[in-house]
Amino acid sequence: MQKAPTGILSISSAAARLLALLSLGGGLSGCSITIEGVQSALDPRSSIAGEISQVWWAMFWGSLIILALVIALALYALKRRSRPSRLGHNSLIIVGGVLLPVVTLSALLSYGLNIGHDFKSGSAAPAELTIEVIGKRWWWEVRYPGQGNGPPAVSANEIHMPAGVPVEFALTTTDVIHSFWVPNLAGKIDMIPGKVNRVQIQADTPGVYRGQCAEYCGAQHAWMAFYVVVHPPEEFEAWLRNEQAPARTPDSTFLRQGRESFINTGCGACHVIRGVEGAVGTLGPDLTHVSSRLSLGAATVDNNLGTLAGWIADSHTMKPGNLMPPFAAFDGATLRAIAGYLESLE
Ligand code: CUA
Repeated sequence: MQKAPTGILSISSAAARLLALLSLGGGLSGCSITIEGVQSALDPRSSIAGEISQVWWAMFWGSLIILALVIALALYALKRRSRPSRLGHNSLIIVGGVLLPVVTLSALLSYGLNIGHDFKSGSAAPAELTIEVIGKRWWWEVRYPGQGNGPPAVSANEIHMPAGVPVEFALTTTDVIHSFWVPNLAGKIDMIPGKVNRVQIQADTPGVYRGQCAEYCGAQHAWMAFYVVVHPPEEFEAWLRNEQAPARTPDSTFLRQGRESFINTGCGACHVIRGVEGAVGTLGPDLTHVSSRLSLGAATVDNNLGTLAGWIADSHTMKPGNLMPPFAAFDGATLRAIAGYLESLE
């Protein structure tokens, strides 16, 4: 964990953990994926997240001091009500009602704007990699550079990045406004139709971090989450090479049946599997390496053979209102074959 840079912050760290646990601990306790710390802006794991948490604590302590001052003045006024008091004097209104808020809010505004500027422009070093993230209802398309000048490697609901390297995120959406937020690593950035917002993030420590959509975007907004997997740089290169490659070829009759059923029942109209003829739809997530992902349905459930089959049969029991139609009409053999085939796509 990043070292707390000031005395105030170190006093605050126990309270931060408590607040963070209260806000999210319950939500992730049933999850088998190991998340670095808790999903919280008060548990910073990058320098910009550290600055953002400093703003939070400055506002917390500042507002606490002002609240104490106001309560003390109110008590004083109550006590002195029966006698004439200097409290009614105009100068109190000017100092307490005009000067104090103007000075405090101006200082806070310029402090916040400075940090916002740092967040937008990133570190002094230029980004070594650009990752495009496109908000969808209610999942995330993630695009990495392809091999050579080839097409991008496309994935979903999970962002992989190297540790200690400045990475630029190009963020947009194809439908409504979403907001990209990984509290431990950075602030919130809106994803706006027709516009690309850019932000540079450098994660200090390898690990898995949780992010989520922070702008109400419809029925499944609350289930629009994702994971950020931060790798040591060499490990990231290996991961990217695998992600750029086309899907592996089925090596058994069962898996070949699965691929055939996938195409014949129309799954390929909404999903791409790179290297498979007929799997070219772009409405749903790219499934080329679906089995290597941690979760299904944008961090709704862990990814395994059982949840894959359940998702195909009726994803609406896991994530009501998502845009994939239920396929409860599949017989058991077809369902097993398709799920088994997808499970083989590492
Ligand atoms: Cu996407 Cu809220």
